[in-house]
Amino acid sequence: MASDTISVELAAHPLRGELIAPGDKSVSHRVAILGGLASGVTRVRNFLCSADCLNTLRAMQQLGAVVSSSAPAANFSITGVGMCPSAPADSIDCGNSGTGMRLLAGALSALPFSSRLTGDGSLSRRPMRRVIAPLEQMGACIRACGEKEGCAPLEIVGRSLRPIHYSLPMASAQVKSAILLAGLFADGETCVEQPAVTRDHTERLLRHFGVPCEESADRLSVAVRGRASLQAHDIDVPSDFSSAAFWVVAASVVPGSELTLRGVGLNPTRTALLRVLRRMGAQIELSNERGECEPTGDVTVRYAPQLHGTDLRPEEIPNLIDEVPILAVAAACAEGETNIRHADELRVKESDRISSVAANLQAMGVAVQEYDDGMTITGGSPLVGATLDSFTDHRIAMSFLVAGLRATGKTTLLRCANIDTSYPGFEGHLRQLIQ
Ligand code: S3P
Repeated sequence: MASDTISVELAAHPLRGELIAPGDKSVSHRVAILGGLASGVTRVRNFLCSADCLNTLRAMQQLGAVVSSSAPAANFSITGVGMCPSAPADSIDCGNSGTGMRLLAGALSALPFSSRLTGDGSLSRRPMRRVIAPLEQMGACIRACGEKEGCAPLEIVGRSLRPIHYSLPMASAQVKSAILLAGLFADGETCVEQPAVTRDHTERLLRHFGVPCEESADRLSVAVRGRASLQAHDIDVPSDFSSAAFWVVAASVVPGSELTLRGVGLNPTRTALLRVLRRMGAQIELSNERGECEPTGDVTVRYAPQLHGTDLRPEEIPNLIDEVPILAVAAACAEGETNIRHADELRVKESDRISSVAANLQAMGVAVQEYDDGMTITGGSPLVGATLDSFTDHRIAMSFLVAGLRATGKTTLLRCANIDTSYPGFEGHLRQLIQ
């Protein structure tokens, strides 16, 4: 378990060696759901045993899927329900995970029973209308009965659904995936158009499980044909690029560092951070590139003495959305301005990540101008250690612990226990690198 308060000091020496970050969070959620729905036995390797993904796996067990290991394990087999889940006896707890709740809502809307999805305080404040609206257009019956309008708990009365063609108002892989999962049970073709290319793990995994999932040439439109049946297929989950990203930035900003991250997921819809960091002057090499369903490889990063600011392009944002907090730390260590705009989705993540990042950078003495849809960070001046809040957001906690490695004095992060939702073992890896 991650400690609730973690302190770091200016890195006394370079970060060197090798590290394996844990399994990919987005892929693990989808493997649990698709493996749980499929016919037959899927052997899963390197599943992310974090609170979030274990909740999704437990949800599939509540629906009748059988998991070979009773204790949390990265490697297990899941016997799916052959597209015919049974009604859950109790509410399904999605914990902190928007991905878990939104994707499950898609599938549950189409199944012939009632279900209730609940979440923790943070998840119960996050917008669910974005999935409810398209699912209602398909004929779903979902009531958002949270204290906040349009928020969880969600009460779902499963129904037979119609296919739709839906144009997403925001670039969201979660909403896209919820609709595609509902579409698996509808009679006909369900097509989702997105304003920008978002992570495509659902599409890749659907194909991996034998269901055709067609994309337009510009990849902005994706379609599945309903009444589909998924066939079990073994899967290796790559290490999470979003977790590796903390060390990519740490090694780029701590003088003398050279670090190799092994077996990292390199799906291009996730790795825009690498392209942006290289543009800023980072020294990053990829090797051993391989992968069947998801591209994977090793990432070697060397200290970059002369990082400089950059302007992010709008189409880059969805492909680095979870890395903005750690990119902001790199920007604070880079000479000049970094402009991050068109990123208003950050306001509805585990915390309002625009204000959390701005508050913490300012507390470390960095000039930040906040906008509704992003921020401008003026980097290059020394970071000053401070006591900071994580806003109970795992990625804010990890990003600012990395910032602490470049700050004078001591940096203390409060309310860090949530790191376990995506990166169990982060604190151990941090200690290993700085000891
Ligand atoms: C995710 C999609 C993104 C991302 C989240 C995981 C997914 O959210 O921020 O951490 O697994 O589909 P949105 O779909 O809301 O952009």
